[in-house]
Amino acid sequence: MPSSHADLVVVANRLPVEETTEGTGDDARTTWTRSPGGLVTALAPIMQRTGGTWVGWPGKAGLELDPFTADRIDVHPVALTRQEVKRYYEGFSNATIWPLYHDVIVDPEYHRDWWTSYVQVNTKFAEAAAEAAPKGALVWVQDYQLQLVPRLLRQLRPDLRIGYFHHIPFPPVELFGQLPWRADIVNGLLGADLVGFQRTGDASNFLRAVRRFTEFSTRGSVATIKRRGRPDRYVRAERFPIAIDSAAFEDLAARPEVEKRALEIREELGSPDVLLLGVDRLDYTKGIRHRIKAYGELLADGKLRPPGTTFVQVASPSREHVEEYAELRRQVEVTVGRINGDYSALGRPAIHYLHHSYPAEEMAAMYRAADVMLVTALRDGMNLVAKEYVAARADLDGVLVLSEFTGAADELTQALLVNPHDIEGLKRTILAAIDMPHAERRRRMRAMRKRVMDHDVASWAKMFLDALATTPRTDV
Ligand code: G6P
Repeated sequence: MPSSHADLVVVANRLPVEETTEGTGDDARTTWTRSPGGLVTALAPIMQRTGGTWVGWPGKAGLELDPFTADRIDVHPVALTRQEVKRYYEGFSNATIWPLYHDVIVDPEYHRDWWTSYVQVNTKFAEAAAEAAPKGALVWVQDYQLQLVPRLLRQLRPDLRIGYFHHIPFPPVELFGQLPWRADIVNGLLGADLVGFQRTGDASNFLRAVRRFTEFSTRGSVATIKRRGRPDRYVRAERFPIAIDSAAFEDLAARPEVEKRALEIREELGSPDVLLLGVDRLDYTKGIRHRIKAYGELLADGKLRPPGTTFVQVASPSREHVEEYAELRRQVEVTVGRINGDYSALGRPAIHYLHHSYPAEEMAAMYRAADVMLVTALRDGMNLVAKEYVAARADLDGVLVLSEFTGAADELTQALLVNPHDIEGLKRTILAAIDMPHAERRRRMRAMRKRVMDHDVASWAKMFLDALATTPRTDV
């Protein structure tokens, strides 16, 4: 019933559409086109079929827009001022919550004015959702930027069924407990009827935080919310691992022009015997420095020799106004420069470092071209690049090296799993991946493909929405 359920309202920090300008000068025309990304791909068809509204920020400070329709989705923009972008988005979301929830890889900063802004912006989103939602609608709130929205929205609209999905890790209470506003965050999430996580461990960390920082008790995956000492509502916290549009990605990678492009890429790189690939947002959680260090040492040890072996690292620009991201960029670029200075031949760099984003076709061609895919995140909620690589390899070739600290490692157990902090282990695993016999490569890829092709993002969304629509809310 629920996937055909009318009246779905999605609330996410970003809108599912991006402003693009066609033409120049007087002829310039602004249109809104669908953004790339799994969530949009999963939810757009559902919303186009049944009608629905997407509440989100258009991505530019100060941009105020009336609601509009794009790509057959009703879009309800939430405007953010320059100061809100600084304090709520760059500050509290991405310099407090993001590092705290990713094992404090960098130090989270706790600033009261960032928190105040986070509360204000979450209130704006909740008000926008309350305005957009028809009576009794399903509202699906997305991710760590909006953890207070479920409770704020329930206060405004008790008639709604509210779901929340947390795309990033939920940390153990020993770390989460650092947050001065930990009880507010847990109570914010408990405004939902269903709280979804990537891994079972994330859901149990959350349930432990409920017991530790609120007066509520939990039993199995359910928290009981009491009012005046009596049970009032139930909140379920469970695992719903996110996926990709597997069939579409497989089809894309199998297109003749993409296959041709994959061959061309290898030629452009000087037809190496071995092509290693990394694809990430330029984020300190992704373990890019650890990966480059291991590769640099393998070159220094003479275990790998460019140009016979080469490494392409795509690092797409991200959150560039947050200091830790700017610092990471400097560190990566210095290290790449040093390794290239030491080991490149004329016109044949040892590392091809690309600080861009690419269209999906080009990414699919790179995945097809790569012998070994390196996913070495220090902590990652899921990591969809790993799943994209597997979906692209219908030829059953290619080896995935995957960090055990990703959500994807729970599902892709046939990858070569690594602890990226263990540089010696990482080096050994990279060599093992390069030397893996053909039959073993096929066996592992076939097993991983079964998982990725059977569990796609449409079934993920359906499972969550079905669970949300059928979650008992009160003790009846
Ligand atoms: C992660 C988060 C998303 C976020 C994305 C891009 O995947 O879980 O919520 O949208 O990164 O980050 P950005 O800050 O550019 O939205």
